[in-house]
Amino acid sequence: MESKKKKAENNLTKGSVIRVLFTFSVPFIIANIIQALYGAVDLLVIGRYCGPESVAAVSTGTQVTQIITSLITGLTLGSTILVGKYTGMEEEEEVKKTIGTTLTIFAIAAVILTVLMLLFTDRILFLLKTPEEIEGIKKSAAINIGVLDLVAERIGAGVTTEQIDKWIYDYTVEHGGIPADLDYEGYPKSVCTSINEVVCHGIPSPDDVLKDGDIVNVDCSTILDGYYSDSSRMFCIGEVSDEKRRLVEETKKALEAGLAAVKPWGLLGDVGAAGHEYAHAQGFSVVREFGGHGIGLEFHEDPFVSHVSEPGTGMVLAPGCCFTIEPMINMGSHDIDMTDPNGWTVRTADRKPSAQWEVQLVVTETGYELLSW
Ligand code: MF3
Ligand code: CO
Repeated sequence: MESKKKKAENNLTKGSVIRVLFTFSVPFIIANIIQALYGAVDLLVIGRYCGPESVAAVSTGTQVTQIITSLITGLTLGSTILVGKYTGMEEEEEVKKTIGTTLTIFAIAAVILTVLMLLFTDRILFLLKTPEEIEGIKKSAAINIGVLDLVAERIGAGVTTEQIDKWIYDYTVEHGGIPADLDYEGYPKSVCTSINEVVCHGIPSPDDVLKDGDIVNVDCSTILDGYYSDSSRMFCIGEVSDEKRRLVEETKKALEAGLAAVKPWGLLGDVGAAGHEYAHAQGFSVVREFGGHGIGLEFHEDPFVSHVSEPGTGMVLAPGCCFTIEPMINMGSHDIDMTDPNGWTVRTADRKPSAQWEVQLVVTETGYELLSW
């Protein structure tokens, strides 16, 4: 409801040009205010540092607008420097001529730099997914969800994590997909299976036999026609202790608290803050080093989704932003141990249990839609 109201006030429509202002950058502010005055900008966010990726993510306008902004920025910056430099000069004509020449150089440089930026930062500018891309991601996610449903049916005491890996590889390939984990930066398997004190990136092995009382995260990712999906679930094997079961359940609720904070034109930092606050209130800690990520055309895209972020910070969530939320919650301290010789497996430093759930979503005009879970 609240987001709808905000939308109406700002008269935002599809294709609106949104620009984030930087408090420390006077030329940027001037350039954006000028744009706002001639109507190319619908919403000005002033006084909050959001990082350069925010600008790209929320700049849903045309590239021409970007060029105009750079031009104005260049001119403003140029004149700011020149006013300082030439104050007090006697030959007025000479001053005017120099200012004119320098401004032209600044303007040309600004346009060239902008064009270069646009040519080489396509990945950042594609942070917002098109409806066609979202359809492609959904087809990929259908396989990813199917794989996890299959694991849910078959998992239990006596199963090895190697067997889970094979189920996943076979199902994914039979459905025309490729497991995204396989060969990802040298990762040797098709899935991550993280048991008890393993925080993430547990590597399936014939030696790891699931036993009564274990909690295990199965984290699965699929590529279909170049589109990526990624989600993970926890499984309790047989009779699990009350405290472990509570960790698993509350971790899911922490994820849901984060989800509730996903709002179009809201801030990404609020998502991590909500989950963190919830987990902390349950007496658990949140892993700081790993987080969610943008996803869709690549496995791990911008933005990084911290689960220990501060409220009121981070990227603006424009409709079309596609990312994961995947908090790793520890029963004891948040400290982790990354010294496993295999280079992947992460454990809690105190060897107490850790749990994680992961969903993939896209921000919509009214809220969000889950793509994989
Ligand atoms: N699926 C993990 C994630 O949620 C990434 C695993 S990368 C791997 O982002 F190489 F370890 F598989
Ligand atoms: Co992920």
